[in-house]
Amino acid sequence: MQLKGKTVLITGGASGIGLEAAKQFLANGVSVIITGRNQGKLDEARKLYPAITAIRSDVSAAGDAQKLFNQVQQLGGIDILYNNAGVLTEPINLGIANDQHFEDAAYEMNVNYLGVIRLNNLFMDMLKSRKESAIINTTSILSYVPSLLEATYSASKVALRFYTETLRKHLQILNSNLKVFELLPPVVATEMTAERNGKKITTEGLVKALITGLKKDQFTIRVGDTKALYILNRLFPGIAFGLVNPKKSYRLLQS
Ligand SMILES: NC(=O)c1ccc[n+]([C@@H]2O[C@H](COP(=O)([O-])OP(=O)(O)OC[C@H]3O[C@@H](n4cnc5c(N)ncnc54)[C@H](OP(=O)(O)O)[C@@H]3O)[C@@H](O)[C@H]2O)c1
Repeated sequence: MQLKGKTVLITGGASGIGLEAAKQFLANGVSVIITGRNQGKLDEARKLYPAITAIRSDVSAAGDAQKLFNQVQQLGGIDILYNNAGVLTEPINLGIANDQHFEDAAYEMNVNYLGVIRLNNLFMDMLKSRKESAIINTTSILSYVPSLLEATYSASKVALRFYTETLRKHLQILNSNLKVFELLPPVVATEMTAERNGKKITTEGLVKALITGLKKDQFTIRVGDTKALYILNRLFPGIAFGLVNPKKSYRLLQS
């Protein structure tokens, strides 16, 4: 798809992958609107990139989402809805049966899965009315192989992946100009993974791959280790599971 001259709304755009995406979309001639829950972070992002429009909004709150839609409509609408906002709860709240486990699962589902459907529903007609438009949903390498330490997060992302695939097919059957992209990052160096050791790619590298994928109409954008894990999981699922869940993670589960 062509990016230049379009307008993108990036949820969770004040930090991490979303902020880097704001930077690279601007560099590609795209107007950028970002959202997030924390006004201070939004103000900081605007200081860095004054061309950005920043709107405080929580994707998991129905009232916020409706207000966001109204504001965006008044600004002239968008061509691309980039569902980037996401949360990962602390592995410390692990467990197969406790109240905190349930609370965390509900929180992740509300933001990572239902938050995306809520915004897509609100913006669907606006996006369908554009000559060429897109929805970008951010799933994860963990939507192919679940992490024992991040079980409920993995589940929220696999739900989003199946929804994304069916939404794309549904719009294709309707001959819509609205394209549905899925971004599947591996582990990326952001606040979300700050406590984690091991291999991480940069937000810059991830977003470069996203922009290239969008330009080529590559609807499923697997980046870095996600590509290899996708293939390995199809051929040798046990080995793929062991790579995502090394034995040392079992100790945490038993403690
Ligand atoms: N980092 C990774 O390794 C990795 C790997 C695979 C997939 N992903 C996915 O990539 C996306 C971006 O992650 P990231 O690594 O950039 O995380 P991050 O640095 O924690 O940034 C997440 C952003 O989302 C915003 N956000 C969270 N909940 C929100 C809500 N309810 N409404 C609106 N905004 C909200 C946060 O801002 P506020 O707190 O101010 O709202 C923050 O700006 C997420 O969907 C994540 O699941 C990340």
